[in-house]
Amino acid sequence: MVYREELIGKLMITQKRARNGLRQSLEELPGSLIRHVAEPNMGREGLIKLWFGEPDVPTPQFIKDAAVSALDQDQVFYAKNRGVPALREVIAEYATKLHGANIDIGRITVSGSGMNAIMMISEALMSAGDNMVVVGPVWPNCKETVRIMDAEPRQVALKLGDDGRWSLDIEKLFAACDERTQAVFINSPGNPTGWVMPREEQQAVLVECRKRGIWLISDEVYIRLAYESDLPLGRAPSFLDIADPEDRVIVINSFSKSWSMTGWRLGWITHPMDTGQGFEKLVEYNIANPTTFVQYAGVTAIEQGEPFIAQTLNRYRQNRDIVVQRLSAMRRVKLSHPEGAFYAFFAVDGMSDSVAFAQKLIDEVGVGLAPGLAFSQDGEGWMRLCFAADTQTVSAAMDRLQSILG
Ligand SMILES: Cc1ncc(COP(=O)(O)O)c(C=O)c1O
Repeated sequence: MVYREELIGKLMITQKRARNGLRQSLEELPGSLIRHVAEPNMGREGLIKLWFGEPDVPTPQFIKDAAVSALDQDQVFYAKNRGVPALREVIAEYATKLHGANIDIGRITVSGSGMNAIMMISEALMSAGDNMVVVGPVWPNCKETVRIMDAEPRQVALKLGDDGRWSLDIEKLFAACDERTQAVFINSPGNPTGWVMPREEQQAVLVECRKRGIWLISDEVYIRLAYESDLPLGRAPSFLDIADPEDRVIVINSFSKSWSMTGWRLGWITHPMDTGQGFEKLVEYNIANPTTFVQYAGVTAIEQGEPFIAQTLNRYRQNRDIVVQRLSAMRRVKLSHPEGAFYAFFAVDGMSDSVAFAQKLIDEVGVGLAPGLAFSQDGEGWMRLCFAADTQTVSAAMDRLQSILG
C-alpha cells in the first residue's frame, strides 16, 4: 500500500514536469509581451521609445555619490536578511511621517526591488490550488508570481466611466472570492491604468477583507506620483493611512520610480509585526540580503530625495497634461484619464490586435508603445504610453501618433 502511494506520488510529480524537466507551471508561464515588442526593435534609429515603465532621467548624483561612498567604506559584505538597520530605520521614519501613523521598524523588510517583494508575498501566502483576486488591468508580473506557486490569479476588471475615469466595483471584487481566496491584490496608482483608488473605497475594501479574514496586498510603488491629490506632498491615498498595525495588510514599495533607481533593485514591504520572521526566511532563501552598498544609497535617497521627487512630479504632470490634451483630441482614441503613475492607457477605435498595432506604430511612425494585451485580455484593443520622458520627446511622439490616430 505504501509502495502504491509512493508510486502515485511519483506519477503526479512526473505529470507536473515539462519535457525539459522544469515544472509545468513554469513552462506555461507567458513571457512579457512588452519585451516581445520591444526587444527586436530596440536598436532602431530615430524611434521614440515609450514602451517601458521607467523614468527617463538617471539616478540623481547625490544618490550615486552615497553608493560610491558606501563602496569606499567596504559595504560589500553580506548583511542582515531584512535590510541594514540604518535603512529600515529611515524607511520606518519616512513611512510614519508620510502616513501620519506610527510604523514600527519591526514591520519593515527591505527587498531586492518591488518585483522581489511581489514574488516573496506570493511565496508567503499562496499554496497550490489557492487563488488571489487581482484588480486589473494590471502589470502582468503581479499575477504571474501567483501562477508560479500553482495558484490562480483571478482578475476583476476596473470599469471605465463616461468621464474617462476608472472605478472599482467592490461587490464584484468580493464576488470573485471564495474559500480558497488568500488575498486581494490592488495596485494604486495603477499600471497601466493611472487609476488612483479613493480613500473611501480603500476603507470599504479593508473592512471587507477584515471580515473575511483574507490578506490585502497593496502595491504602492507609484504612491508619490498622484496628479490630482489634496494630500500633503501630493501623494496618493495608502492603505497604511487607515490600517491597524495588526491588520492582514502588506504594502509594497520601491525606490525605482520616485527616486529614478530602476536598475538598482531596491524596495521594501510593510507588513504586520508577527510576519517579520517569515519574511526574514524568504529573503534568506531568495537573495540572502538586498545588495549591501545599494541599501546605503537608499538611506540617502530617502533622507535627501524630497526636492527631486517634487521636481519630478511637476515634470510628469506637465507631460500628462500634454498627453491628455493631445490624445483625447485624436479621432480614433478613447483615453482613460491618468490620475497617477506615469502612463496613458487608451483604446484605439477599430484595432483588435494590440501586438500587431504596436509593430505598426514602430514601422510607420517610429513610436514604441506597450500593447494592451500585455496587461491581460481586458487590455486588448488598448495601448500604453509611458510619459516619464522629457517634454519635447512626449510632444514629438504626439505629433507622430497624430498621423495614424488623428
Ligand atoms: C505596479 C508595479 N509594481 C511593481 C513594480 C516593480 O518595480 P521594481 O521591481 O523596479 O521595484 C512595477 C514596475 O514596473 C510596477 O509597475
